[in-house]
Amino acid sequence: MAQVKTLGEFIVEKQADFQYSKGELSRLLSDIGIAAKIVHREVNKAGIADILGETGDVNIQGENVKKLDVYANNQFIAALSVGGECCAIASEENEEIIIVDNSVSAAAKYVVALDPLDGSSNIDVNVSIGTIFSIYRRTSLSGPGTLEDFLQPGTEQVAAGYILYGSSTMMVYTTGKGVNGFTLDPSIGEFCLSHPNMQTPKKGKIYSINEGNYVHFPEGVKKFIKYCQEEDAATERPYSSRYIGSAVADFHRNLIKGGVFLYPTTSASPKGKLRLIYECNPMAFIIEQAGGKASTGSKRILEVVPTSLHQRSPLFIGSKDMVEKVEDLIAKHSIPAAKAAK
Ligand code: AHG
Ligand code: MN
Ligand code: MN
Repeated sequence: MAQVKTLGEFIVEKQADFQYSKGELSRLLSDIGIAAKIVHREVNKAGIADILGETGDVNIQGENVKKLDVYANNQFIAALSVGGECCAIASEENEEIIIVDNSVSAAAKYVVALDPLDGSSNIDVNVSIGTIFSIYRRTSLSGPGTLEDFLQPGTEQVAAGYILYGSSTMMVYTTGKGVNGFTLDPSIGEFCLSHPNMQTPKKGKIYSINEGNYVHFPEGVKKFIKYCQEEDAATERPYSSRYIGSAVADFHRNLIKGGVFLYPTTSASPKGKLRLIYECNPMAFIIEQAGGKASTGSKRILEVVPTSLHQRSPLFIGSKDMVEKVEDLIAKHSIPAAKAAK
């Protein structure tokens, strides 16, 4: 029988990579794995469990809240709170940070930022959805976690990852030493190492963007889309267009196959749609660890210093050559500041 390595075994084995580690990060990752299994169970019976549809509430981003958004949010907050390794949590579903207040959390070293349910619009139609997480060492010295603990650039992430509830459920994460993917084997209830040391192709042949917004895209992005659609034997164009509408699922496919995911500024979302702290940064950390690139269009995502918790950013992420091509076209076609001001 082939040797199976579970997420738990892998985490313990890798703990030695971190000098002076007392196992807190390992416990945090295990807690996330447990919440992921609970959410997986619910996602898989969503059609019969009365958890499809909307709660009737609108979240702080002005979006309709789905029941599964709330369920996933509660599960992750609960798992991270009981573990005692995390002193505060930031979530897409909560306007303010959540202070974890129990006897052990004041001494906790870490804060966790979350998109508990990514791709909400796909829940009711049985299409892949996900969870995204990002872990930082707190900058405050003691006591309750603070907002400032979360306003660190993505370069400071200690770990980041996502769970994809797809045709199978996977957890993919990095602690800055490569990217590893685990597939949930529901028969034993364990995530098993299935994708060790993931690397993304340097060149890709897939572009993923909501092309319905084309008229509202910056000129450089329009030029990139046209570039992808041109015929050129040497670069194997035209490329394929693939767009699921769950960032986790689009990102995961492109990570494996090679490609670029783009969410630029649009007139409806002049700062971009995706959230820097719990969507862009974790995926950026993973893609860089897998040999790819993540950009705002002009700058490395991981170097952006956040000024607010739910800040948005344009995102261009994936195979290095493709991200660089978009950056070049954006630079070439951007309106110089002086001209734009006229
Ligand atoms: P969320 O469900 O967490 O709000 O995120 C949805 C995001 C992301 O997953 C996806 O890539 C993007 O929104 C899709 O947006 P469009 O529908 O505008 O293409
Ligand atoms: Mn999301
Ligand atoms: Mn979400």
